[in-house]
Amino acid sequence: MFIKNISLQDFRNYERLDLDVGPSVNIIYGNNAQGKTNIIESIYVACSVASHRTGKDSDMVRFGSDGYHIKLLLEDTDGYKTEISDEYIEKPRPKRILMQDGFESRRISDYIGVCNTVIFAPEDLNIVKGAPSYRRKFLNTLIMKVSPTYVNLLGNITHSMNQKNAVLKGAKFESGADVNMDLDYWDYYLADLSAELIIYRYRFTHMLSEFAMKHHSSIASSAEELKTTYTSITGAVSVLEAYLSENNIFDEFISRNVSQSDYERIKGILSTHILSKFKSAREYDIEKGVSSVGINKDDIDISLNGLSMRSFSSQGQQRTAALALKLAELEIIRSFVSTTPVLLLDDVFSELDLKRRVSLVSAMKEAQIFITCTDKSFIADELDALTEGKSARYFHVSDGNVISE
Ligand SMILES: Nc1ncnc2c1ncn2[C@@H]1O[C@H](COP(=O)(O)OP(=O)(O)OP(=O)(O)O)[C@@H](O)[C@H]1O
Ligand SMILES: [Mg+2]
Repeated sequence: MFIKNISLQDFRNYERLDLDVGPSVNIIYGNNAQGKTNIIESIYVACSVASHRTGKDSDMVRFGSDGYHIKLLLEDTDGYKTEISDEYIEKPRPKRILMQDGFESRRISDYIGVCNTVIFAPEDLNIVKGAPSYRRKFLNTLIMKVSPTYVNLLGNITHSMNQKNAVLKGAKFESGADVNMDLDYWDYYLADLSAELIIYRYRFTHMLSEFAMKHHSSIASSAEELKTTYTSITGAVSVLEAYLSENNIFDEFISRNVSQSDYERIKGILSTHILSKFKSAREYDIEKGVSSVGINKDDIDISLNGLSMRSFSSQGQQRTAALALKLAELEIIRSFVSTTPVLLLDDVFSELDLKRRVSLVSAMKEAQIFITCTDKSFIADELDALTEGKSARYFHVSDGNVISE
């Protein structure tokens, strides 16, 4: 699947943009603060329903406007065309309208995955260096791209957690009210959903670890071992690992080859464990008016030779690990879906040394690529490898105007 045309209305500094792009390499260049990243962001947002820069839809609306509209015309290798459209309106109520070929997608899961993208941006460093929320977002985004059921699962959990927190908040302000029945209901439901979610996240973190380790050892000159491990505040990961090891089914479990009855048993054990954690925290949670235990506190531990990278690694080591993790993401998506994702490279090329650039380029064969840079001569050397003989398209960006060369 590749993008043929990008159409923007009131997105960031673009009042309007209608841009035909090429099927292989698209180089978007220009001075700082002209709107290069905004184009990359618009593609990512329309495909993934989330921005890599902001969690607030309203940030992306052009100053002084009431909403934005992004349309992407896509074409697959058989010449089949489809259009996806992501519109955000602020009035009368903030609303996101996702459409494919003029029909509204009722579920986000129907829409995500029509066009898969992988973005490489300076913000990737946050995966290694930043708060746990960055790693959860990274993992969630990856799983969402390959598994529609995960999108719905995450939506259900978020909704249930909000409901539970509303009950807890109410209990704090209406002391004496008996909220135990309501909390029992939400805890039971949440424990079941959380067990399923932890299984997803545990499996994908394991896959990430394997792929990232491989990429890391080819990029880094040292023989240090990169590892990612899923950690849960509920202690569910230890319970899961104890069960898998006692029953000697770790490999089958990771490769999704356990029987349905084994899967249900594992889910049941995790759910019971999580429920008991919710129960022990209840008194405290009622007092605080908010839930203190849940998958929203989980994290991925990223370590190099057993040492947590967030606390002990240098900036250079963190950058290499972030790149290895993104390459792992790309490889996992490729292994799950048949089409090659569109690759978005925001400002990363100029920041990497030759060895890292080569690793990146070699992972990108056949993909449609969008690259931003300030100086187009920067990437000339690697272009041949990227385009494999096909010609690159250049776009010059100046103050929200794009000139196709
Ligand atoms: N919601 C918005 N409405 C209007 N303009 C915006 C909005 N958000 C950001 N901008 C403007 O967009 C410009 C930045 O665009 P962008 O991040 O794409 O720059 P860039 O060309 O990638 O620059 P750099 O080379 O520094 O990365 C800034 O001038 C900023 O003020
Ligand atoms: Mg930029």
